Amino acid sequence: MKICVVGSGYVGLVTSACFADFGNTVVGVDIDREKVKQLNKGKVPFHEPGLDELIKNNIKDGRLTFTTNLKKVVNDSDLVFICVGTPTHRNGSIDLSYVERAARNIGESIDGYKIVVTKSTVPVGTSKRITGIIAAALKKRREKVKFDVVSNPEFLREGAAVFDATHPNRIIVGTESTAVRQVMSELYRPLYLLGTPMVFTNCQTAELAKYAANAFLATKISFINEIANMCEIVGAEVKDIAKAMSYDNRIGGKFLHAGIGYGGSCFPKDTRGLVYQSGAAGYEMKIVAAAIKVNEEQVKRFCRKIVSQLGTLKNKTIGILGLSFKPNTDDIREAPALAVIDFLQHEKALVKVFDPVAMALARRSVKGVTFCRDAYQTAKDCDALLIITEWNEFRNLDLARINKLMKKPVIIDGRNIYNPGEMKKLGFIYTGVGRG
Ligand code: UGA
Repeated sequence: MKICVVGSGYVGLVTSACFADFGNTVVGVDIDREKVKQLNKGKVPFHEPGLDELIKNNIKDGRLTFTTNLKKVVNDSDLVFICVGTPTHRNGSIDLSYVERAARNIGESIDGYKIVVTKSTVPVGTSKRITGIIAAALKKRREKVKFDVVSNPEFLREGAAVFDATHPNRIIVGTESTAVRQVMSELYRPLYLLGTPMVFTNCQTAELAKYAANAFLATKISFINEIANMCEIVGAEVKDIAKAMSYDNRIGGKFLHAGIGYGGSCFPKDTRGLVYQSGAAGYEMKIVAAAIKVNEEQVKRFCRKIVSQLGTLKNKTIGILGLSFKPNTDDIREAPALAVIDFLQHEKALVKVFDPVAMALARRSVKGVTFCRDAYQTAKDCDALLIITEWNEFRNLDLARINKLMKKPVIIDGRNIYNPGEMKKLGFIYTGVGRG
């Protein structure tokens, strides 16, 4: 099939690379000239394991190219994917201007039947809005071109995006057209052979299903974080509780890691988005609102632990291990580390930071901290060391060396990667989350 993917951000690039790898001819479109130039050389503008290689291979094999000219390539495509950004305002309302512009450009360009597919996470009703915008643009041109709009939300995780896109748990396709269902089934045939279930539904259901999945996972995290907080009061161990819960296969073991709270470009945005949309529809979404509140408090609770260990933080040196919102990505959007740094700077502490891959991005937006070369340089002369992201390289630190380097051997572990008993034996004053 011939595919055009509008937007070469996270979802757009992974989608382009994977569809090209399935043997389709794919053109990725982006308005950023420099990005397109770099992409055509196979250079990915962010850290995502395996993506560079996939893009390079598919460019080399002639199945993948990038352009800034949507109008030129859209008519050569059978399917047009909209994968542009959908930034959210703090109240949860979503800025659809990029989606709307993409739809307008499509309506201004197409001269034959197209299937327009949204992969970006968009509020319920967006497919109808896209349909209206394309139809209006066609009417303006006095063109009678047929098209269908499909909702096909993406469920990939940053850091595991290529695997998730090629081994998804399910594919959701929102369309009421039987012919479009067949085309979408054909597109995903390589996955169907892996036994990937496909759920066909209407557009609104597909759009809402994406929010429901993310909000449910975020709620699961906030739930275990609340149990962790109770563990700290009554002397229970949250890791054992999560393990005990996980053997009940109605619950499952995933997303029950207590910690400093969730971050990233999806859960915070989508939970707020769902609460906002349900409110606008006249329904108060109480559970998700509570999950958001628990998450916001979780990072504050972590900050209070630093104060309870050190007293005043003024002129104390605090080391931070991990800036990205989770391992295997350089993404620092809504990363808990940023909230902790804000707090420490407000309290006039001296902050040292290290992250295995997010340093370059962090240097652009995080000011007034010392960027270190590794965990050991970070720990040197610190009154406390905070573990904020569970990168593998932080799981096997030379702890005796860390202890010697620190001014005071205080470790506050926001991801529970160490064993409290062993840390005590090694001479640390160690606090995790919910490790009663
Ligand atoms: C999430 C979803 O997992 C994807 O399915 C979805 O496609 C994506 O959002 C999206 O909407 O695009 P992502 O944000 O990349 O993916 O990362 P996750 O692995 O889900 O982690 C989110 C946050 O939850 C991280 O800050 C992580 O540290 C935290 N988390 C996760 C916990 O605190 N505890 C857990 O048990 C699991």
